[in-house]
Amino acid sequence: MQNLPTLDDVYVQGKTVLVRADLNVPMKEGKILDSSRIGRLLPTLEELLQKGAKVVVLSHFGRPDGKVVPQLTLRPLGEALAHALNQHVFFAGDSIGEHAHAMVSFLKAGEICLLENLRFDPREEKNDPAFAAKLAQLGDIYMNDGFSVSHRAHASVEGITRFLPSYAGRLMREEVAALQQSLDHPQKPILACVAGSKISTKLDLLKNLASKMDYLVLGGGIANTFLLARGISVGSSLVEKTMTSLAQEIEEEAQKQGCTIVLPLDVVVAMEHGTSLFHQTLGLDDIQSNQKIFDIGPESRRFIKDLLKQVKTVIWNGPLGVFERPPFDEGTSDIALEVARLTRQGHLFSIAGGGETVAALNSSGAGKDFSYLSTAGGAFLEWLEGKTLPGVKALFDASRVTSKAVNRTSPPD
Ligand code: 3PG
Repeated sequence: MQNLPTLDDVYVQGKTVLVRADLNVPMKEGKILDSSRIGRLLPTLEELLQKGAKVVVLSHFGRPDGKVVPQLTLRPLGEALAHALNQHVFFAGDSIGEHAHAMVSFLKAGEICLLENLRFDPREEKNDPAFAAKLAQLGDIYMNDGFSVSHRAHASVEGITRFLPSYAGRLMREEVAALQQSLDHPQKPILACVAGSKISTKLDLLKNLASKMDYLVLGGGIANTFLLARGISVGSSLVEKTMTSLAQEIEEEAQKQGCTIVLPLDVVVAMEHGTSLFHQTLGLDDIQSNQKIFDIGPESRRFIKDLLKQVKTVIWNGPLGVFERPPFDEGTSDIALEVARLTRQGHLFSIAGGGETVAALNSSGAGKDFSYLSTAGGAFLEWLEGKTLPGVKALFDASRVTSKAVNRTSPPD
């Protein structure tokens, strides 16, 4: 396995290090709803600061589409970062303009600043070489610690690596190692739990996993479409009727590759009566046309838990039922707690990714015992699809060209 060049390979004291972070955290009315992405950046930032680097944090926030959108300023994230680091974080009001240049030139060793939202400039998302070069002029070394944005070939993620010696931060290294361990070099048997409302958004992922997994457990609308493709009536459940032939193709391919697709054996259905939901557990032959599937049933749970005892690696993306509406969280929680228990006991390596998935696992109390929780949503999915992430590839490529001038772990002679 090729290694990413990391903080261990570079001397940073007195150097200006541009750290690409992903501060794109969920926020509502100015309040951060989940700060895990900030917390997970701290090891890299603290180590750089403690080693005497001048740290310049680069990030995007939201999708301002190349325009200045005051509501999408990174300023509040600078405050959150300062709080987490327990250190002042200077804030520059632009990314490559005079504010950024002035701020960076005043920065002393052990100090940190944050530049304004990179996506306020349209050249960031276009991976414009001139924009990447201008960003690069601000520092001596580039460090990518934003795995969760590394599926984007943007200037601060990919282009910039052509202009500066480039390294992976601690979080980036951790994310890549966990995904390599679970998907590229897994201990077998391996099981993936994939759920979500639509096959159409996870088609490439399902195809790739069907060729690599021993068991592919499906839930949510995706499972409904597979059930329909097997000729089972799913009532008025969320389903993609036009995707049934694709579901059949995936089933056939999975069979050829020795992957067992696991669909619910029983389900929890509900009918809407005004504001109330009446629910019951049914076998697959008993679903009425006015009923909707909201969760997997107890027999399915028992079956999946038995399978879990036989596998060594678990990959998870997507809650198995309508998790946000109890009691339809029970299927997901039950399975997640079993994955957590088996992981704790050393039987399993388990990894999960995707904002909604991680939130569901955490709310059931299972998340803390998973071997690894990714901070990524889209990037995690693209890795599971078997795609090469441009930001990660750029770091691997950079390892071959990184300048010897700074590629050392001791001070220059
Ligand atoms: C994410 O939250 O998945 C990343 O920050 C990427 O954001 P994007 O989908 O807006 O590019």
